[in-house]
Amino acid sequence: MITRKLGKTGLEVTQLGYGSMGLRGPRTWGVRVVGEEDAEKVLHAVLNAGINFIDTSPDYGLSEARIGRYLAGRRKEFYLATKCGCVYTQHDDHLKIDHVWTKDVVRRNLDTSLQRLNTDYVDILQFHGGDAETLQREGLIDLLQDLRTQGLIRFLGVSSALPHLPGLIDLGVFDTFQMPYSCLAPELHEIMTSAAEQGAGVIVRGGIAHGGPDAEIQRPALNDVWTHAKLDEILPQGMPRAEFILRYTLSHPHCHTAIVGTCNLAHLNENVAAATKGPLPADLCQEAASRVKSCLRKS
Ligand SMILES: NC(=O)c1ccc[n+]([C@@H]2O[C@H](COP(=O)([O-])OP(=O)(O)OC[C@H]3O[C@@H](n4cnc5c(N)ncnc54)[C@H](OP(=O)(O)O)[C@@H]3O)[C@@H](O)[C@H]2O)c1
Repeated sequence: MITRKLGKTGLEVTQLGYGSMGLRGPRTWGVRVVGEEDAEKVLHAVLNAGINFIDTSPDYGLSEARIGRYLAGRRKEFYLATKCGCVYTQHDDHLKIDHVWTKDVVRRNLDTSLQRLNTDYVDILQFHGGDAETLQREGLIDLLQDLRTQGLIRFLGVSSALPHLPGLIDLGVFDTFQMPYSCLAPELHEIMTSAAEQGAGVIVRGGIAHGGPDAEIQRPALNDVWTHAKLDEILPQGMPRAEFILRYTLSHPHCHTAIVGTCNLAHLNENVAAATKGPLPADLCQEAASRVKSCLRKS
């Protein structure tokens, strides 16, 4: 597996990481429910493939508990990133999720996460959203620094998007930034660069754009970008669209790890194979970028 240094954390992470939101289980959201046996198989397959970076969150249903249950014995084989600022209430048929920026919530999240994950520490604790002003005003950045001093977390991160990312980067306190990026949603291309130039690690989510137009669960807005940019015209013969999208993401010089979600072992193997091939040729990336740019400009 190709690895990259995750910015100033110095962690040597596989450029293909694993996003575990799909392991959230029943009564959460979405149409797919992954059972215990499959969750166990997928998590072991992730590590067996050599992936060493896993992202989760307290508000991903059973995800943290499953990582703790099945991978606690392999804790040294992977870096673990979870989140905080999450308030979640289980209703009969769904999980209601809010993000609340208080010290109580952050402390409670980390206590619960450590128990569920069956571990003494998490490598990265990320604010699950939030903006620079609120996180500072509520003393939450200081709190994360205290938690680091106590050895409960190793690094401070934030998972965010526009419009908050530039302000969060300007604070200069975060070790990592998680953000969405792919050839079908390229808006944060430059922001990835600014985060990395400041020395931070860049964790990409949505890096396979949910599998693109071939995926079982269709994402019309993203798929429309693929269609309108006529990316099929430049898709190398025999290359699945998901491979193209993933390798484009991995071609960004500052994509340190892309936490691709999958609960399908065949897709996991395909993603590992794609990531092992590495970036797409530069001219192909440029052509895709310019087609998508002009298509997004028109829309
Ligand atoms: N605000 C936040 O902090 C935030 C928000 C969203 C996500 N995240 C994190 O980012 C991770 C990834 O995000 P995401 O799930 O939204 O985006 P994603 O990784 O781009 O998409 C995941 C979807 O892609 C499909 N897929 C994966 N590989 C495929 C392949 N080779 N062929 C076809 N389909 C494929 C998966 O379906 P199969 O299971 O069928 O393979 C799954 O439905 C999450 O798990 C979570 O850890 C964070």
